Amino acid sequence: MSERLAFQNVSMAFDTERGRLEVVRDLSFEIRQGEFVSLVGPSGCGKTTLLNMAAGFMHPTSGQVLLDGRPIEGPGSDRGVMFQEYGVFPWLTVRQNVEFGLKLKANTRGAAERQEIVMRYLRLMGLADFADAYPKTLSGGMRQRLALARAYAVRPDFLFMDEPFGALDAQTRSAMQDLLLGVLQREGKTVMLITHSVEEAIYLSNRVIVISARPSRIKRVIDIPFPFPRQQSLHDQPEFARLRSEVHALVMEEYEAQQRQNAGSPPPG
Ligand SMILES: Nc1ncnc2c1ncn2[C@@H]1O[C@H](COP(=O)(O)OP(=O)(O)O)[C@@H](O)[C@H]1O
Ligand SMILES: [Mg+2]
Repeated sequence: MSERLAFQNVSMAFDTERGRLEVVRDLSFEIRQGEFVSLVGPSGCGKTTLLNMAAGFMHPTSGQVLLDGRPIEGPGSDRGVMFQEYGVFPWLTVRQNVEFGLKLKANTRGAAERQEIVMRYLRLMGLADFADAYPKTLSGGMRQRLALARAYAVRPDFLFMDEPFGALDAQTRSAMQDLLLGVLQREGKTVMLITHSVEEAIYLSNRVIVISARPSRIKRVIDIPFPFPRQQSLHDQPEFARLRSEVHALVMEEYEAQQRQNAGSPPPG
């Protein structure tokens, strides 16, 4: 597998009213072609900042983020991004929201073909009956599925997702995980996913990267050995349970460290 995305000794700091905030410190990792990599770590540790750099919306204070060996200058249609706060446009209908991404893509298609793609992905997400509705009339979960339809419809070869399933109930979440795995199986994408769910990270990924409390460093990289295609019954296997405890313990350590930081008290010892 060849290397697609590379963080090389990346550091990031923001100047804030309360002084300089160091968010990422000397962090390095790679994602190879076709890989699914999840980042887990405590809230506020810098995960979205990492995704913003990979998507080209921010540049590191030092170090480099490379895509196919070249420094990332800005956003590109080769990379699809799905944000935490989903970012659907309230002034466009469901159909127009999905179409929007397709129009931006360089290889503009004919209107008929575009409509066909839009409806295919709306059906996939169970939103076909709502094609002409406006987002404000949808539930939070439906808006999240709309954002997924828009991200998938563009068919970028690199997908960045920030808590994409957070607003969904447990059953829909499982269904959306399997749908994503299906899309990947067919379309062979590379994925970087941010999630709070250790189970979700293990179920979907080739590798799980545990990020430390702020500033972000890599605490541990865990290889997930299960072959694809995967099914939900994987959750019942002893090896899955073992990995879940291992990753969960690592995340909890960093969660507690982040809590101590947020409370402004120095770590013990
Ligand atoms: N543009 C910015 N300016 C100042 N501080 C920021 C900016 N973006 C993020 N931060 C701060 O950086 C830290 C990490 O944020 P973020 O990457 O969103 O964390 P996470 O996604 O892991 O919850 C937070 O303390 C946040 O307030
Ligand atoms: Mg975030």
